[in-house]
Formats: sequence, C-alpha cells, structure tokens
Amino acid sequence: MTQIVRAHTNIALIKYWGKKNHDLKIPFNSSISLTLDKFYTDTKVTYDKTLTEDKLILNGMPADPKRVSVFMDLIRERYNINEFAIIETTNNVPTAAGLASSASAFAALAKAATLHLDLDDESLSRLARMGSGSASRSIFPDFVRWERGHNDETSVASPIEMDAWPEFRMVVCIVNQEEKPFLSSVAMDETVETSPYYDAWVKATEIDGDVLLDALKHHDIEKLGHIAQTNALRMHASLLAINKWYFEPMTIEIMNRVRKIQTEIPAYFTMDAGPNVKIITLDKHVDELLEALPENVETIVCKAGPGITVR
Ligand code: PMV
Repeated sequence: MTQIVRAHTNIALIKYWGKKNHDLKIPFNSSISLTLDKFYTDTKVTYDKTLTEDKLILNGMPADPKRVSVFMDLIRERYNINEFAIIETTNNVPTAAGLASSASAFAALAKAATLHLDLDDESLSRLARMGSGSASRSIFPDFVRWERGHNDETSVASPIEMDAWPEFRMVVCIVNQEEKPFLSSVAMDETVETSPYYDAWVKATEIDGDVLLDALKHHDIEKLGHIAQTNALRMHASLLAINKWYFEPMTIEIMNRVRKIQTEIPAYFTMDAGPNVKIITLDKHVDELLEALPENVETIVCKAGPGITVR
C-alpha cells in the first residue's frame, strides 16, 4: 500500500523574496520561518507504468497537473525514474491565499515521490526547493533557516539550534480565502527585475536575519516581533514600488489594531503574498490579542509544528 506523506506549511519571519538563479531557485537572501501545526498537505504518489502522463487529484478532484508534472520530471531525471504517477493530494490550507500552500505541497510531494529512495532531510530540502523555494523549509519542524547558498548543494534549509520555545504562538487571521490576484513567483520576479528598492531589500534582510536569530536564541519576543514585522513591511515596500500589493481593507485594519495593542502586549504582524495577516505573540497574550481584533475575522491560533512525516 502506498504511504501518505504529511508536510506542514511554514510562515517566514524573515522573508524569501527574489531568486538569483531562476532554474535552481537560489534566493538572493537567506530566510527564517516557523513551521505551523494547524496547516498541512497530505500527498500520495503511485507510480504506474501503464500511464502516459501524470494525473493529479487535488482535494478529491481531478486537476491540471502542469506545475506538478514539471517538478515530477525533475525528480524522474534526477533519480532515474521512468514512470508517470498518480498524485493524490489534500490541502488542509486555503490554497493560494498567502498561506503558503505551495510550501507544504512541494515538501510533501518531494518526499512522497522519492519514498523508495529514503533520501536524507538535506537532500529532500534541496529537492523541495526546486518545486517552490519556501518548500525547502517545510521539511523541518519549529524554527528553520534556509541558507541562501550559491548552488544546488549549498542552498538548503536546516532547523535552528535553540532551546524549545513552547509559549510561541502565531495567530493566523483569514481575511480572504480566494486565490490571490497574482502569483508570488510572478510578483517576486518582477520585483527583482524592476523594483528600485530591491537592492535595499536584500541588504536590509541579511541584517534582519542576524537580529532575528539572536532574538530567537534569547526568546526575546519584543525584538523578534519587531524585526519580523519590519522585514515583512520591507518586502511589501519593494512590491509597492512596482505598483503591486496584496493588502485589502481588512488587512490594513488588522495591521492598525496590532500596532495599537503592541504598545501594551507583545503582538506583531507579518504578511506574505496574500491579504491574510499572521500575528506573532506568546500564549499568555492570545486572549487579549483576540479581543482586540475585528469580530468578523476568522482566527486560527497556531503553535510550532512538526517536520515531514510518513503515515
Ligand atoms: O516559495 P514561494 O514561491 O511560494 O514564495 C514564498 C514567498 C513568501 O511566502 C512571500 C515569503 C516566504 O519566505 O515564504
């Protein structure tokens, strides 16, 4: 019987935004993320020599296998596999709404398609990166750093060595579950090519990463939250400078509420390529934070989640 692989999504505290090498997905800057417990993708890959193309079943329905097939071709070439496959995948993540479904999807697929090869986590991380950059981080639990590296071998994620921080929380605010207006990969490439702020983004982010690592090691929520919030705004500033944004009125409303309450409790926002807002805080402040948010927003309180698992 084919086994199911589960990979959890991750949300970046220091963002990946821009590729130096497009084909290998080598980023301009290193990034740091938290793997989340509540959102994940389950994937099963069944190779079948009678198939003449890959088949994708997404959330129980046949779907266009194009992007998945490009990744499967790469796996077939790298590991000498000669069969097409049925790929059954279920997302427990709102697809393409800036909740990083591609991270969990490509991490799960990298493992599910190579189960018989029993690759180590580092090889899996590098492979997942070729599907979607952020997927390189979803192989691992808790806090993870993706070292930008300079080639396929060196651009790889690994867990951050630190004491466990069980009080850490990320409150995901679902503003809109619909597909986003433009894909992160497209917006990212356009930012690199045309944003006058792109170089400044890369420079600032390397420094932000060092500050955040130090905050993580000392469990300093104020320092961590402040730099994560600033880093997210810097990413969005580079995008705003080319006339693109993901903010909706409710995104801004939540940002304003968080900014107001952060004078009293540690609560800091981050946003990705979509309108949803994620708020960083500690367990003991969650109730007060939820009270301060708009009533009509769905919130999901997340903790650090596990790395990739086979079931
Ligand atoms: O891995 P991609 O191509 O889905 O890009 C992810 C980009 C951000 O989510 C905005 C940032 C990040 O580091 O996850």
